[in-house]
Amino acid sequence: MTLDERAALEAILVSMKPSVAIEIGTAGGGSLARISRHSTAVHSFDLAQHLEVTAERFGNVTFHFGDSHELLPALLDRLAEAETTIDFVLVDGDHSAHGVRRDLEDLLASPCTESTVILIHDTLNERVRAGLEQIEWNAFEKVSFVDFDFLTGRLFRDGAFRDELWGGFGLVITGGGLGEPAIMRVDSYEAPEIFDAFLAARTRGDVSGRPTYHEIAHLEHQVAELRRYVTAIVRSRSWRLTTPLRQADKLAQRILRR
Ligand SMILES: C[S@@+](CC[C@H](N)C(=O)[O-])C[C@H]1O[C@@H](n2cnc3c(N)ncnc32)[C@H](O)[C@@H]1O
Repeated sequence: MTLDERAALEAILVSMKPSVAIEIGTAGGGSLARISRHSTAVHSFDLAQHLEVTAERFGNVTFHFGDSHELLPALLDRLAEAETTIDFVLVDGDHSAHGVRRDLEDLLASPCTESTVILIHDTLNERVRAGLEQIEWNAFEKVSFVDFDFLTGRLFRDGAFRDELWGGFGLVITGGGLGEPAIMRVDSYEAPEIFDAFLAARTRGDVSGRPTYHEIAHLEHQVAELRRYVTAIVRSRSWRLTTPLRQADKLAQRILRR
């Protein structure tokens, strides 16, 4: 995760202090370290155990190794039987459209998520986004807030992920959640629309539609110079002396137009 993502995750966890949290997709335990530090009990899901993810390192974490699409519904059933509620979930496991959709629908279908903050990683990615777009959010009455661009991801310029869209957090709140007013979807352009437009423009070779930052700074400087020049003229003696002439000229123009 990038520094901004880690900061957002940390901020949410610090403000919530979850009693029960779930992480789907643990890998080397980077995000789990944060979730575990601020939660009382955590359930972690991953296909396999990474060497650095040990029970000693994560004393308050119960590990579930295997496919989340099989293991998560089983855990949710057990938690529901025990009338346990889940405060926080990070969805960062199966990144296929089908997989993301499935994890979220399983979570939302459970009575354990009546008042839950769900953070979804990599929401700028096309496949993740496709999964999210397929979910009938309105079918889940408890869902009070959905924003796929809560934190916008990145289009990579170079390296292994060159020209790929990754990162970003989506935020879903059920019930009271963080205590914010209930809103469905933020009414702004979605990040993929903007990135797609950029990629299409770059393919056509006409990316440079707007001035560079250097040009903006230069133009700003020019405007300031012109303002100073105009102010000096208006304050000058000759300008004040010729004011009656300009007023007479305006009056004559008006009379001629009649
Ligand atoms: C991007 S990594 C998670 C990174 C981690 N959340 C972090 O930020 O440190 C995604 C993880 O999801 C796991 N994963 C993929 N499909 C899964 C599935 N169906 N069930 C459980 N875990 C899965 C992968 O094995 C991988 O370790």
